[in-house]
Amino acid sequence: MDDRASGSGKGQRGSSPHEIERYERLFAARTHGMRSSAMRDMMSLTERPDVISLAGGLPDTSTFPAERYARLMAEVAADSTARALQYGPTEGLASVMECVVEVMAEEQTTVHPDELIVTTGGQQVIDLVCKALVDPGDVIVAEAPTYPGAVPTFGAYQAQVVQIEMDDQGMPIDELESTLDRLLNDGLTPKFIYTIPNFHNPGGVTMSTERRERLVGLARERELLVLEDNPYGLLRYEGSPLPTLYSLDALQAGRGGASDFVIYLGTFSKILSPGVRLGWAVAPRPVLEKLNLGKQGADLCSSPVTQLFVSAYFSEEDWRGYLDQLRCLYRSRRDVMLGALAEHFGPQARWTHPHGGMFIWATLPDYIDTTDLLARALETEGVAFVPGRAAYMDGRGGSSMRLNFAGVKEEDIREGIRRIGKVVREHVGLFGTLTGTAPAESGAQKRAKERRPESAPEAGESGGGELGDGKAGDGKPGSGLADVVELPRRRGEQNSAQRRG
Ligand SMILES: Cc1ncc(COP(=O)(O)O)c(C=O)c1O
Repeated sequence: MDDRASGSGKGQRGSSPHEIERYERLFAARTHGMRSSAMRDMMSLTERPDVISLAGGLPDTSTFPAERYARLMAEVAADSTARALQYGPTEGLASVMECVVEVMAEEQTTVHPDELIVTTGGQQVIDLVCKALVDPGDVIVAEAPTYPGAVPTFGAYQAQVVQIEMDDQGMPIDELESTLDRLLNDGLTPKFIYTIPNFHNPGGVTMSTERRERLVGLARERELLVLEDNPYGLLRYEGSPLPTLYSLDALQAGRGGASDFVIYLGTFSKILSPGVRLGWAVAPRPVLEKLNLGKQGADLCSSPVTQLFVSAYFSEEDWRGYLDQLRCLYRSRRDVMLGALAEHFGPQARWTHPHGGMFIWATLPDYIDTTDLLARALETEGVAFVPGRAAYMDGRGGSSMRLNFAGVKEEDIREGIRRIGKVVREHVGLFGTLTGTAPAESGAQKRAKERRPESAPEAGESGGGELGDGKAGDGKPGSGLADVVELPRRRGEQNSAQRRG
């Protein structure tokens, strides 16, 4: 990821080059691969009242009734004082595991408490999985774009990330297969395949059932681990739910419901609150044990205070009812954003039509750099989004942007998109003036124009939306090899990667 992708929201806490120099020789090699997450950099923007931020990955926590929160917390304080204030078991409280089992059942996936651990958010699962599996130079296969929050984690573990460009049905499995073959030829086997099958963050697309089955088949055939990151599965606004990779693999494994090759990441962040910082991992036993050891070293246990809050919430409240409320609210916000995009972004742009989740991924003409656009949008219009580069390891994604609709009020969505549209039109006009021409439409742009999202919502089974990559909408998997993105490696790592291969 290019540093510029962090945008002008970068905090005021940055060190000067002089200060860094002083400590340089003390830093571990892994810190060179550490990059700030664009999302985190931009969190500060959400606090600024003068800025409309479509950049956050935020659910709308203002929908949670204050009196309910107060009552549950008071109950935890009064009835479980000592437990709440004490350390808990690393794998989590049994009562929270029961909540996880309930949520997973809602995802049509059977799990047992002894197959999971409770973590400090889903983010910790990504970290623990890397900690358990990835040595410097090891390969991770991910989608392109990928979750911007995973980018700094992969960087910190010095992984080589191979990103496979998605189309409107998620990761094309033909491309995955040929990429795996190519890696194998180079003596490399990925440590895991990282995927967000439902309502992708940031891509907004959903992996089709056929691809899910093929992915699990491939993982089983080649004995590869898959990390299924599913924070948004229950936030579906249209179409029917699709099976989790975990459940498909467990079906094939046929041994009491447990999966052999899928590590499942879940979280309470989007169905209840990110503030509780609670997620979970379901994994094959030997992997789970390593995750548990990694967690012991990271934080001993997740907060018992919030675990007890979640347990009380699930046992006393109608969590499915709250989820219905969220789905209703977010669906309507999604529709407002889709309408505003159609009104203000013009034929030059393409965007996804997510069937759920929190994000739309918009792609502008190639000559627009969304990192530059963000600086301008912030400065002149007071509006923010996540520039697309944040979702790539290698600086691609420069003409795309991630837009959050879930955590933003309808009037702000309309106004925010209007303002971004204004800056986009100025850029397009400037390009025309500089080149003396009206900007030419590429074939992809023409196709995108014919496939404007308001006329092309598709059925649930066929995937979550169209993706603006020139391949979108044709429903065919991409051809040829995926772009292989290699992080720069230091000499020692090169050798160790080759040795392992
Ligand atoms: C795809 C994905 N994975 C993981 C996470 C981490 O979520 P949390 O740590 O809040 O559970 C997020 C949060 O936005 C996400 O979008």
